[in-house]
Parts: sequence; C-alpha cells; structure tokens
Amino acid sequence: MQRHEMIDHARLVMRDNDRGTYTVPTHGLYPFQWNWDSALSALGFSHFDEARAWQELTTLMAHQWADGMVPHIIFHRPDDGYFPGPEVWGTGHTPPTSGITQPAVAGFAVARIHARAHDKVLADEQARALLPKIHAWHQWFYRCRDPQGTGLVAVLHPWETGRDNSVDWDAAFERVPTEGVAPFTRRDTTHANPAHRPTDDQYKRYIWLVQTFRALEWDNTKLHDASPFQMVDPGFNAILIRSCHDIADLAERLGLDEIAVQSRDMARRGLDAMETLWNDRLGQFACLDRTTGDLLDSPSIGGILAAFAPIPKARAAALSQRVEVLSHSCKYLVPSHDPTSADFEGLRYWRGPIWLIVNFMIADGLEQAGETAMVPRIVGDCLALIEDSGFAEYHDPITAEPCGGAHFTWTAAMVIELLYAHGLVV
Ligand code: DGY
Repeated sequence: MQRHEMIDHARLVMRDNDRGTYTVPTHGLYPFQWNWDSALSALGFSHFDEARAWQELTTLMAHQWADGMVPHIIFHRPDDGYFPGPEVWGTGHTPPTSGITQPAVAGFAVARIHARAHDKVLADEQARALLPKIHAWHQWFYRCRDPQGTGLVAVLHPWETGRDNSVDWDAAFERVPTEGVAPFTRRDTTHANPAHRPTDDQYKRYIWLVQTFRALEWDNTKLHDASPFQMVDPGFNAILIRSCHDIADLAERLGLDEIAVQSRDMARRGLDAMETLWNDRLGQFACLDRTTGDLLDSPSIGGILAAFAPIPKARAAALSQRVEVLSHSCKYLVPSHDPTSADFEGLRYWRGPIWLIVNFMIADGLEQAGETAMVPRIVGDCLALIEDSGFAEYHDPITAEPCGGAHFTWTAAMVIELLYAHGLVV
C-alpha cells in the first residue's frame, strides 16, 4: 500500500467512527466515547482538521466530574450493544458516565497539538480553556490515588490502565472476589472473537469492583483505601508524569504560572518515585502491588511504556535495550507481554498482542531521550502490521493476525501520526 493510500484509508476509518463532536473507538464493540481513545485520536485529526482535534478534547473534558476526575466512558447516546452500560455504573451523571478513569494522555495531546498547530490563535484559545481542567484532573490523581503522598498513583480497576487483562493483574485479581456479582451477559464477545478477549472469570471480578465502588457512591475520598485492587503501574504513571511535564511547559508559555509550577512539581515527584519501580532482574520497570507492597516480576509492556516519561537517560537506554531483546522472540514489536514468558498469549488482548498507541508512546519517549536505535524498527513494524492486516484494534506480534475490533479509530490515528511525525509522507 502506498503511504498516501494508507493515510486515505486511515482518514476513512476516523470519519466512519466520527459522531460529530467525539469519536467512538469502533462501531459495535465500543459505541461510546472512551477517554484515552479520544485524546490519542485527536493527534490523528490534528494533521488534517485542527478544529476537529480540539473539539474531541473539549468534548472529553466537558464531562469532567466536580472532584476533577475525568471518566473513562461517556455514554453520549443509548446503545444496548455494550456491557456494562450506564445502569450498571449508576454514577448519576447526565449524560451518564462510568465511575473510573483512564490514562491521562490528554495533557500530552494538548501540548503536542498546540506545538505544531498552524492556527496559533485557535490553539492558544483552546489550550487556555483546556489546561485548567486537565490540571485539575492531574491534581485529582495525586490527591485521590496517592493519599500517602508517595509520588505515584494507583489504579483501582484494570480498566483504568486500559490494559484490562494484563498478566500484571493475575495475582492481585485472586484477591478480588466473585461472590455477590449480579448475573450479567457480556456483549463484547458478540462483536469480537472470545479468544481475543478477557475471560468470564476476569469479567466477574471487573464487575465486582464496579459494584463495590458504586456501593460507596463513587466517593473518591473513600475508593482508594476501600479497594482490594491498588496497582501502581509504571506505564500509567509515566503517561501522567509526561502530561504534567508537557503542560508545565505550555502553561509557562501561556502565562498560566500557577499551573506551570504545580505541574512541574508533580512531574518531578513522580519521576523521583518512578525509580522505586525499577526491576533489575527484568531490566525494565514493573508494577507495584500497593496492597501487598510487592514489586512484581511480570515482564509486561507497562514497564516499557515508562519510556514515555522524561526518565533518566540511562533508564531510557536500558528500555531501548529491553525492546531489542524482545525483538528476538517475535516478528513485530512491541509485544504487550514478553513472548518467552509462560503467560504470553499472542491473540488475547493485553497478554501479548501489539497495540499501535503503545508503540507510538514508547517510540516518542525513546526519541525524546535521544535513544533512537529501536525507533525506526518500532515505527516500521507498525506500518507493516497495517499493510499486512489492516486497521485492527491489536495484532499478534508473531503472525500479525488482526485481533479484537476492526476499523479502529486510534489505530488509524496512530498511522496518520506516525507517517507525518516521522516525515514518511509529505
Ligand atoms: C472494555 O469494555 O473492553 C473496556 O476495555 C472497558 O473500558
């Protein structure tokens, strides 16, 4: 496929999933607005329609809760093809939203789109409107998800990381009960191959957590301590740190001094604390189970995605080396779990498949750190996967088999972003 054809195809995918003021990740499987899908999709829009890119972010942030939290799903229009719908969440918002959050990539997206905007007047105006909201979300994270002030935030539900069924959660999930979960019917497996999705047992535990948080009326002053699942994910924290870091620079340029100072402080404290997540045996960062205090030994992409934050150069070099090692055990980079691990499953969601959004963030972080050795390979593999298997939600890192939903918005957005940002198309 010619590069221009790839762009045309990607734009078609984005247009088909465009609902005017927000995009859905894909028709059927995900019929609402998802938080980090939208923020990353805005990067794709920004290359051909800056106003539409800003609109995506504005719609997302318009549904921020009064405490600062930005929900992971906004149920703009009813659709019974998805479970769990608004009636399960019961958050009492209009339009309905879920009650948990997702990776805080919006700050990074605003800064990146602003930096390269052609319409500078619009960009300044939009950034001025968005930054205070995004900053309030970042403050919410450190207030409600790091009550002990460690510098690192915990996720309370695997869906918050986006890496729903990562091997990282297996041991901790043993402690999340299944008793008392109201009977339910999954809808995801009617849209996607069940072999590509989380298991029924995992779904019961996902819903147990939702029911438990709902019983606490989604009160974020209570949820952290009440949750049996408190996971400190290096990738999740890296995204938050990078967003704080990037909006600090932007806020300074816009004269929003308080946001700049506070954001810089949050980023610095996060970066210092990130060192506690380094796992020497794995040669990468790893998750910390806050409920037990254990640093996990799980070689997942979460610890490599840490490269997205401005971590010390030696750590970025080690992560680049880690990616190189992974390249020996798969055809395409970067697998979401180490293929040499017994837990690796090439088709099953976050237990092995490649996600273009993660590849983009790893490549971007390595580039920022000046560790560019693996970047062309990562970018090249993304494009090869699309050529071989289309705009799937995720791909098998060994066979390139397309997995999950098809015609996927953020996959298309990343193709546009990678091709333009790496000067592979003019
Ligand atoms: C799902 O429904 O698969 C999502 O990942 C939850 O956000």
